[in-house]
Amino acid sequence: MLQVDRVIAQRLASGVPLVAQVAQYIISAGGKRLRPVLLLLTCGALGYTSEQRFNLAAVVEFIHTATLLHDDVVDESTLRRGRPTANENFGNPASVLVGDFLYSRAFQMMVDANSMRVMQTLADATNVIAEGEVLQLMNMHDASLDEEGYLRVIRSKTAKLFEASARLGAILAGSPAPIEAACAEYGQALGTAFQVIDDVLDYDGNAAEMGKNLGDDLREGKATLPLILAMQRGTPAQSQTVRQAIETGSVDQLAEIVAIVRETGALAATRQAASAEAQRAMDAAQQLPDNAYSQAMVALAGQLLDRRT
Ligand code: IPE
Ligand code: IPE
Ligand code: MG
Ligand code: MG
Repeated sequence: MLQVDRVIAQRLASGVPLVAQVAQYIISAGGKRLRPVLLLLTCGALGYTSEQRFNLAAVVEFIHTATLLHDDVVDESTLRRGRPTANENFGNPASVLVGDFLYSRAFQMMVDANSMRVMQTLADATNVIAEGEVLQLMNMHDASLDEEGYLRVIRSKTAKLFEASARLGAILAGSPAPIEAACAEYGQALGTAFQVIDDVLDYDGNAAEMGKNLGDDLREGKATLPLILAMQRGTPAQSQTVRQAIETGSVDQLAEIVAIVRETGALAATRQAASAEAQRAMDAAQQLPDNAYSQAMVALAGQLLDRRT
């Protein structure tokens, strides 16, 4: 990961001061660097040790960071990684444009891998993430969104990059198709569990630990799984309160909504759904050669369920 950070620092360079300033601002705030971790773990599990893995690990982190810059503009979020968001600090135009810089820098870097499969995987992932964010935009304030519709959004906006990161390890290692498929499934299941937990934490987390504000999803009228399940399980009055909050995007009732998602068991059921995805990830990781890396992949899927940050 130190090597990845070195590549990241080198490739952030730009002759335009504001580019480097904004990119530095969000990247130096840290973040969990989960997608690079995933790529390096799959490389390790499959025995790929060339330096190219550090380059591609930085690529997936750049793509991720670009999506965050854009996502915080779209979501009008003010806190990210424990700091004011880039849009809060530098404004929406700089955030959008530096997001574009990071996307395109990632594409410059992936060319270095000199592999059509690598290019295809990352181009597809980037395209699907954009579709996922647009799909979510279309679903805003729609209280009739069901679990399937919700899953479609999170598989695209979040799980796809996890899937690509894990798949790249197998592509780099030149693994046979069934191993590549197991890696992709691992990433997809892990990314789905990760976003489901993220949506739990929006109601059940701690802003200081997460480094982002609670209630952002409700403010935007996002029908996430905790709310979808609360509407199914609640009394007619409880369901009506949740529905109205989604439709208006008002956070005036946030405390009451938090109580409802707890009391109806919706939060516990959402955590259960994440747990089922994590189990799917573990099963996939167990199809890889048994070594310290694949064991870490199994452990990661378990730990993610208890994450607070
Ligand atoms: C945030 O991702 C966006 C989601 C997919 C929920 P992370 O929680 O991985 O963000 P950082 O990189 O650690 O800040
Ligand atoms: C993040 O979704 C997904 C992408 C950045 C593509 P969210 O909007 O739920 O993530 P946070 O909560 O802002 O990190
Ligand atoms: Mg957001
Ligand atoms: Mg969120």
